[in-house]
Order: sequence, then C-alpha cells, then structure tokens
Amino acid sequence: MSGKDEGAVHGGIRRNGFAQGVLPISGTIAVQPVDDAVSTPFDKVNIMPTDMLGREYETFRVPEPLQQHGPARIIAMCNQKGGVGKTTSSINIAGALSQYGRRVLIVDFDPQGAATVGLGVNANTVENTVYTALFNDSIDVHEVIQHTEFENIDVMPANIDLSAAEVQLVTEVGREQVLAGVLRKVRNEYDVIIIDCQPSLGLLTVNALTAADGVIIPVAAEFFALRGVALLMQSIEKVQSRINPGLEVYGVLVTMFTRTLHCEEVLQRIYEAFQDKVFHSVISRSIKLPDSTVAAAPITIYAPGHKTAKEYREIARELVTKGIVA
Ligand SMILES: Nc1ncnc2c1ncn2[C@@H]1O[C@H](COP(=O)(O)OP(=O)(O)OP(=O)(O)O)[C@@H](O)[C@H]1O
Ligand SMILES: [Mg+2]
Repeated sequence: MSGKDEGAVHGGIRRNGFAQGVLPISGTIAVQPVDDAVSTPFDKVNIMPTDMLGREYETFRVPEPLQQHGPARIIAMCNQKGGVGKTTSSINIAGALSQYGRRVLIVDFDPQGAATVGLGVNANTVENTVYTALFNDSIDVHEVIQHTEFENIDVMPANIDLSAAEVQLVTEVGREQVLAGVLRKVRNEYDVIIIDCQPSLGLLTVNALTAADGVIIPVAAEFFALRGVALLMQSIEKVQSRINPGLEVYGVLVTMFTRTLHCEEVLQRIYEAFQDKVFHSVISRSIKLPDSTVAAAPITIYAPGHKTAKEYREIARELVTKGIVA
C-alpha cells in the first residue's frame, strides 16, 4: 500500500471537515491533490502477481493534467437491473475524475433523481431539469445545468417530471436522438459526460445509448448478477446497428464485492461472460458508500482515504489509461 497516498488523502478529510460527514454550508469545495502513486487492487499487490481473475495486475498511472478541456467522452452508466450501483458509480467516478482535473457533467436520467440529490442539488427547487432540456427548445441548456459544490462537477438534474418523458418522447420527431441533441450543445465544455440511466430499457435509456460513445455496465457481485445483461446487450446491439454505430461497450464494473467464495465465483462467472471487458478495478461493498450519498458528496471527497474511494480512483485511472476518458 502506498503510504504517500494515505497521507495525502487523510489531509484532505481534515481540511474539508468531512470527518463527521458534515458538508460545508456553501461555496465550491476545492479539489484536493490526489496522489495514488501505485494501484493497490485489494491491497494485495505485494503478494499476488495476478488479480482475482488470474490476469496480470495492471497498474494505472495518475493521469497527467489536461492542457485543454473537451470535447467530452459521453458514457452511459447502464443496467436495467435496479440497485447495482449505477448512480453510486456515476457520482464517484465523477468525484475521482474531478480530482484529476477532469471536467465532468453528470446527466441524471432517472426520474428518481438520485444522482441529483447525491450531489447535493435539490431537484425540487431547481427551475429547469433534464426534462426541460429535452422538450423545451427555447431554453438554453446552460440554464439547466447546475454547478455542484464540487469543483469540476456539474449536474443536469432530474426529478419526477422526467417520468412523463418516456410517453412524451414517443410522438417526438427523432425520438431516440433528443438527448444527443441536447448534449451536443455542451459537449465541448466537459472532458466527460456521464449519463446515469434509470433501471429500464425504455426510450429514455435508448436516448442515453444513442447519445453515448460507450457504455459502462455496473454489475453487483451477487447470484443473479448477469440476469438481464443479455437483454441489455441486445438493446446495445440494436442501437449500434440502427442508430449509433460507434457505440462501444467500455466495460463491466463489478460493484458490491465482498471477499467471499460466493462473490469470487460470481466474479469468475462475469469474467467468463465478458472476458477482458471486465474492468480490473472492482468496487467493494461498504456502508460508507450509502453514507456518502446521505452526506451528498462523492466518497472520494467525503472520505478520500476510504478503501472504496481508492477503488473509485482506481477505476477513474483505468478509464484514463485505457483512453476511454481524456
Ligand atoms: N459498493 C457498495 N457497497 C454498499 N452499498 C452500495 C454500494 N454501491 C451502492 N450501494 C448502495 O446500494 C443502493 C443502490 O445503489 P445505486 O443507487 O447506486 O444503484 P442503481 O443501480 O443506481 O439503482 P437504481 O437502478 O435504482 O437506479 C444504494 O443505497 C447505494 O447507496
Ligand atoms: Mg440509480
């Protein structure tokens, strides 16, 4: 384990006053320097030459600062199975990337508005939401986007209004491309745009897949992990062949992992299905993640020294190393 990393990030906790889970009342939370000199998957790097899937460990370097920003890579965080960590991963990958100096826009594309709330924005008091952006051509998309308290993270908020969109989109001209049209207007201002999808394969999700360059599929390490993923792959293939030929599957992100035989078997099963598309970085199960959602902050900022914060930094570095994100 890198002692250097520990020191750097624990300093961050104290300076931010997050140790008790208390957010500063106002103002932008400055980016803390993050220095994970080496990857430490499962903190086993010294004793295991391979990762849990028998692959060679890869270490993912700390990304170089960017000299200029945009155009953004657009990533759909997608799995129609509920509760697999789509929102948590959207927020925390954004948190990690923001600390590496990447400008991130999270598009909350779920009427539950969990990503919006998880970033400290009150979706019921904002004037405009992603719903307005979809259907009101006269509105400037910039009026919809909210700056969060966290430097480099903006959000296009959602609330329950969005639940009407699924029906309303049916009669729209170019109904699959509406979100793509919205994001085109702001793409140059961000390095990455993450669309937090709702757990369904309806028209909203098709819009996300049409707007995206690629998909990250969070999968919880549990018995029915892969149930429904075949259906998701079919939807992705349909969108690829009919609307968005460039759409890629960037990878499968295993979440809620515990070191049990059961989870290891599930991980192996996921690997058999997706091979090298399974990200090396795996997210552990920890109560600290729901805690950070309650505190409305990414774990990488709320508790930067925590194991799962490191894991989210690790996946962020993996995304950069693989060229998925600038
Ligand atoms: N690694 C984890 N360890 C423990 N709890 C987690 C982890 N990741 C997410 N959770 C919790 O599990 C629940 C579901 O996570 P999340 O909301 O991110 O999933 P989702 O796929 O976005 O769900 P939905 O399909 O409903 O949108 C939340 O309460 C979240 O705090
Ligand atoms: Mg969600």
